[in-house]
Amino acid sequence: MKRVITFGTFDLFHIGHLNILERAKNQGDYLIVGISTDAFSYSKKAKYPIYNQHDRKRILESLRFVDEVFFEESLELKRQYILEHKADVLIMGDDWKGRFDYLKDICEVVYLARTPSISTTEVVEVIKSMPKNV
Ligand code: CTP
Repeated sequence: MKRVITFGTFDLFHIGHLNILERAKNQGDYLIVGISTDAFSYSKKAKYPIYNQHDRKRILESLRFVDEVFFEESLELKRQYILEHKADVLIMGDDWKGRFDYLKDICEVVYLARTPSISTTEVVEVIKSMPKNV
């Protein structure tokens, strides 16, 4: 049984999120997802996600290829989370390429190509730029 772990905010769930989670699951048998808490997201981006952490968690839990979801509270705890969840493989998008190689002493580290032309930030920008229909 190969246990796979990945991390992210997964706000305004979109096709790029779906693609990486599906491909992460295909790397093993059991997929665990650490989602950034609202406070952790704020500390990274100086803004809160649109969807709160409980709603983001429920959306991920409803996916058939996600087996377990937990809250990630800090970047510094990655090693602890991987050990606690007994993960064999860490999957990250290639926007993080090389950044988690220091964890190769406890698990395999795999970076997957991002889906082009979509991100939560871009979706928000597109919605903001839409003309008002009034
Ligand atoms: N991801 C992906 N392809 C995309 C967007 C995201 O593969 N087009 C992956 C990221 O590499 C990460 C996971 O999805 O492994 C969660 O990413 P997250 O940062 O939550 O999503 P983004 O859409 O990149 O959000 P933001 O614009 O706020 O950075």
